[in-house]
Amino acid sequence: MNKIKRGFASDNNAGVHPEVLKAIEAVNSGHVIGYGDDIYTAKAKEILKKHFGEKIDPYFVFTGTGANVLGLNTITESFQAIICTETAHINVDECGAPEKFTGCKLLPIKTRDGKLTIDLIKKHLHGIGFEHHVQPRVISLTQATELGTVYRPEEIKQIADFAHDSGLILHMDGARLCNAAVSLNCELRDMTTACGVDILSFGLTKNGGMLSEAVIFFDPELSLNFKYIRKQGMQLGSKMRFVAAQFISLLGSDLWRNNASHANEMAKLMAGKLTKIPGVTITQKVESNGIFALIPAEIIDDLQKKFFFYIWDENRSEVRWMTSYDTTRNDVEEFVELIRSKL
Ligand SMILES: Cc1ncc(COP(=O)(O)O)c(C=O)c1O
Repeated sequence: MNKIKRGFASDNNAGVHPEVLKAIEAVNSGHVIGYGDDIYTAKAKEILKKHFGEKIDPYFVFTGTGANVLGLNTITESFQAIICTETAHINVDECGAPEKFTGCKLLPIKTRDGKLTIDLIKKHLHGIGFEHHVQPRVISLTQATELGTVYRPEEIKQIADFAHDSGLILHMDGARLCNAAVSLNCELRDMTTACGVDILSFGLTKNGGMLSEAVIFFDPELSLNFKYIRKQGMQLGSKMRFVAAQFISLLGSDLWRNNASHANEMAKLMAGKLTKIPGVTITQKVESNGIFALIPAEIIDDLQKKFFFYIWDENRSEVRWMTSYDTTRNDVEEFVELIRSKL
């Protein structure tokens, strides 16, 4: 088979980490009960508890969209609303699934850097108790954000306190939580459990896994109906052991940290080189594994032919470059040289 070149389109475009594949193979013998009633799923849940605390109630699913939509569905009624950023995955990249399945209205907020603040959220807190208005129920943050920036734990805590004081629930989309943790040099629990997050969509797929996502409830009261909603939502896997094996492999060792550190490091390396090239303007702080930049529109096609990536905002000629656990220094150098040669 042809070896396919790596690009900078998405951390989802990377393959599965060899250690994770080995872990999947290692659980591939004999029969175990399906649907999660097996020793591997139990072990994976124990490992999650080591990271996030004993009180959590975790459930495995296959996709990040599934985690977001089913998690949000569990904690909302259709007359309620979910506050998020305009750039949130739930707002722009889930084909309306959050609205379809929860029935809720999304209240998207324009931000400069992909991060919500209390002042921004407050603008949507009106009409409370007024039957003609949807009732805000959830604040949804993404960590690391869709723009590659990262909330500090104190920022998350402030928003969580504000949410709880206002009778709201704090949801976090943690598709890239591992990248945020290494960026902040902290543990996974420091940005979640310790800050008052109520429900987390936790993804490992972008960090060396495949089909390896979880919904984690920090308040068992909130998860009472999740097992039914997961089944109705078609995300209850019968061969759960293969999802569990990935959690054991990545989170039972430092693999999650090493993979995310490497991806972040490659983004920093690339950003450092790009800032020296006139004609490239980096538009966001590079705090995780994404780089956003303005480049001349006429060079994009040629670059994409050699290293695929997505245009983020066509009107501004802004592009997104994502690094992943398997990006090499050579990939970065070749790509930067290519850009330099076109400008
Ligand atoms: C912020 C964020 N949330 C969730 C997801 C999960 O999406 P999927 O349903 O493709 O696994 C993604 C994937 O790109 C993402 O970037």
